Amino acid sequence: MSNSFHLPESFLWGASTAAHQIEGMNVNSDFWAHEHNELLAGRFKDKSGDACDSYHRWPEDMDLLAGFGFTDYRFSIEWARIEPAPGEFSNAEIAHYRAMVEGAIERGLRPMLTLNHFTLPRWFDEQGGWLSDDAVEIFGRFIEAAAPIFASGVERICTINEPNMVARFATLRKMLTGAGNEVVASDHGYDGSATQALIKAHKKAVDVLKRIAPHIQTGWSVAIQNQHVVEGGEVVAAEIAERARDVFVRASAGDDWTGVQSYARVFIGPEGELPVPEGAQKTLTGWEYYPPALGEALRTVWALVPGTPIIVTENGIAESDDARRIAYTSGALDGLRTALADGIDVRGYYHWSALDNYEWGSYIPTFGLIAVDRETFVRTPKPSAAWLGAAGSDRSLQLATESAS
Ligand code: BGC
Repeated sequence: MSNSFHLPESFLWGASTAAHQIEGMNVNSDFWAHEHNELLAGRFKDKSGDACDSYHRWPEDMDLLAGFGFTDYRFSIEWARIEPAPGEFSNAEIAHYRAMVEGAIERGLRPMLTLNHFTLPRWFDEQGGWLSDDAVEIFGRFIEAAAPIFASGVERICTINEPNMVARFATLRKMLTGAGNEVVASDHGYDGSATQALIKAHKKAVDVLKRIAPHIQTGWSVAIQNQHVVEGGEVVAAEIAERARDVFVRASAGDDWTGVQSYARVFIGPEGELPVPEGAQKTLTGWEYYPPALGEALRTVWALVPGTPIIVTENGIAESDDARRIAYTSGALDGLRTALADGIDVRGYYHWSALDNYEWGSYIPTFGLIAVDRETFVRTPKPSAAWLGAAGSDRSLQLATESAS
């Protein structure tokens, strides 16, 4: 096979971001509260602060992405800004996100909106978040109120980002508050009620969207852990796969698309997850450098929901050496083109991330195609941005040779 990746017709080609990680001053969100909670001091190396100031600088970010050649942009709307108090909606914030949608379209970037990328309004978190009795209704009400943002021009919506990670956090929170004694070791940290609450919230979101904006293709994006099972770990691996991944992927059967987010792999032994093997190459997050993760993730998901179109909504690497980012991404895309050649229905690829951003507690792991000065917010594109983005206009990409197969 040559080392070119030819994009199938109408293949989506973009970069991804999330509001809390780039906007700055997201003061009404639960994560901001956690960053400033003295009881949690020490868990956060950095506070998000101004982040990339993209709340104000989004036109520049979009200019850059469109300039590289990307045709798509996935970003999230911030619930904590739109609904700062229960049932109280900000028309100004709705207008802000509507302007972003229109700004993207004007620049030739098709927007994919994420309705919830981890962060919650502080008041919703305080009442129990996804585990509160009326969580599903509250989420539905938020989507109805936000409807002007996606009234036209938005073809795709991701309801909830990585519900499997969210369920894990919700379970941990329940355990920390002493209400989760029923979570036992064999649950592997996943309380079924959090899982079910998130699945219900997703179904509700899809129902609301099909009613108020039937033209929009809906789905959700699951973090896909590729398991490499060490002898004796088979039973535990199957239990973890079911609770931490598969139940969430299967919940997307029948959606317009299902989102795959893939970065690395995990080793599982008889006692559960094992550390990254000694001597393995690592990235700035401490994860293993493992480009084949994406191809493996696509096969896992296709086997779970055969026939449901897949969109890669996140894939990338925390790395300071940009040549290594190009090598990693080439390896990942090599897996994607092989999956396509084998008949797996992949409709698009969004790289994580557009910018070096706030990595949930630290600014050290740099996933961005564009560097951001932490004091001046000046953007400096890395070579990977032009390399990857150009495929959007050229419809073809030269992969770094080490990954050519
Ligand atoms: C999340 C992003 C995060 C990225 C890298 C995904 O889990 O959706 O918010 O920054 O992975 O850790």
